[in-house]
Amino acid sequence: MDHLLSPTRLGGLTLHNRIVLPPMTTRLSGPDGHVSQREAAFLGARARGGAGLVVVGPFAASTSLQGADGLLRIDDDRFQPGVAGLVTALHGAGARVGAQVTAGQGRLAGPGTEPVSASRVTTPDGRRCRALRGEEIEGLVAEVAAAARRLVDVGVDLLDIDARAGGLVDQFLTPLWNERTDAWGGDLPRRAALLVALVVAVRAAVPGTPVSVRLTLDQHLSGGRELDTSIEIARLLAGAGVDLVAAEEGAAELPYLVAPDYHQPAGAHLAAAARLRAEVGIPVLVAGATTVQQADEAIAAGRVDLVGLGRALVADPDLPAKLAARRGRARPCVRGNSCLDAVRSGRALRCAVNPLAGAETALAVRPVARPGHVVVVGADRRASRPRGSPRSGATSWTCTRRSRGWAVCWPARPARASVPSCWTWWPGTAASWRRPGSRCTSSAPCGWARACWPPRGRWCWPRGRVPSGPTSPGWTGRRCSTCSTCTVPPWVRAS
Ligand SMILES: Cc1cc2nc3c(=O)[nH]c(=O)nc-3n(C[C@H](O)[C@H](O)[C@H](O)COP(=O)(O)O)c2cc1C
Ligand code: SF4
Repeated sequence: MDHLLSPTRLGGLTLHNRIVLPPMTTRLSGPDGHVSQREAAFLGARARGGAGLVVVGPFAASTSLQGADGLLRIDDDRFQPGVAGLVTALHGAGARVGAQVTAGQGRLAGPGTEPVSASRVTTPDGRRCRALRGEEIEGLVAEVAAAARRLVDVGVDLLDIDARAGGLVDQFLTPLWNERTDAWGGDLPRRAALLVALVVAVRAAVPGTPVSVRLTLDQHLSGGRELDTSIEIARLLAGAGVDLVAAEEGAAELPYLVAPDYHQPAGAHLAAAARLRAEVGIPVLVAGATTVQQADEAIAAGRVDLVGLGRALVADPDLPAKLAARRGRARPCVRGNSCLDAVRSGRALRCAVNPLAGAETALAVRPVARPGHVVVVGADRRASRPRGSPRSGATSWTCTRRSRGWAVCWPARPARASVPSCWTWWPGTAASWRRPGSRCTSSAPCGWARACWPPRGRWCWPRGRVPSGPTSPGWTGRRCSTCSTCTVPPWVRAS
């Protein structure tokens, strides 16, 4: 892992390794937008675990048009002291600190806030957006620049501008949502005018501080933006002086691509990011189910410069330290996206395999005074955490209907390759769980027993659990020949 762990420079900034905690909405802070102790403890654990760069946020730069929607806020000086304390703590733990600033969510903003966008497009729940006026757009640019200044004043080392996943800036970039004919819409340079204006304004507000742009390279939406266009946008950004493109794929409608779930291949966004780097020559950060081996090889080959290991660090904050020490195996993320589901439904981040994630201020694992063998009956994976300690001698026997289906069926499914890795990481799990091809012998019904299996072509959700909305993982735009319940959502580009 020498390449992943090697130091690098970005603008005037030195990072002690190439591992980045990418920005993640956690909803660990209160509704008032101040940094909470919970948020600070969550991020602090990842900084102490050895990530070279921790990107905090997103921070709402403006609340004049839409609410902050549960995000951290930096639209006023009164939020600075909380951020200053956080930055000092993260620096003290050895990490460099980035901050993502967002101009807003536009058509994706939750109910209770006026939907605005580049044009009069509809929101996912069918409301009509108001097209922003020219002076409002200019006001937003000024607010983002002021927010950047506030963040750098309290010690932030890198500014990341949100142009991703169908948020407001992405709505300007993409003809699907931008039907304007003025200076902010039309051909590509005019659709990119807002993003370029943000970059120019932020650079002027914080001279000398590296600026990155979080850019979706391929939205995978019908009528959405594809890689070729994103490469042209990246050229404009390079011309405007951006130091780093933080690449990702997907859209809010396709969250299982943004944070690739277990149906997606490992390193799902690597190829697109590498192509952008090769064609534009700008430093690139990639995040998207990248394994540490892929990350190391991609950096060695000069395909990317930095790698975001978001959920991997949620599952195990000590992953970088374990790699550096060449001791201990990191607890694997199973890519089931419980974390994402939680924050998307307005709850605080949680992790299916790491009960401490988001609960660092409340929980701690300590060695027991007198070692013994413990059997936890009826517990789910979170409750049975003690078996994560090799010395605890704990066994967990799960006996709920749901767990029985999971425990025995999952390893039998190749699509769930990441799941057995987690079961074997935990000592004390039943041997049959690890045996490839094992079958559930239970007569009790469970979700997976009814699954469409084998999947024809692509995976779809088990029958009876077919999701009703666009946010569900597993949608591929294909109808599985076994399952008659699926329909093809119109927003998915057939691939
Ligand atoms: C719970 C959660 C919240 C996220 N919130 C944001 C966000 O607010 N801004 C952003 O740029 N990316 C966000 N992301 C995307 C991550 O930064 C990252 O790109 C994604 O998880 C893929 O990387 P990974 O496979 O290493 O986790 C979020 C991801 C998750 C899982
Ligand atoms: S909740 Fe699931 S996807 Fe999210 S970090 Fe934990 S294991 Fe990974």
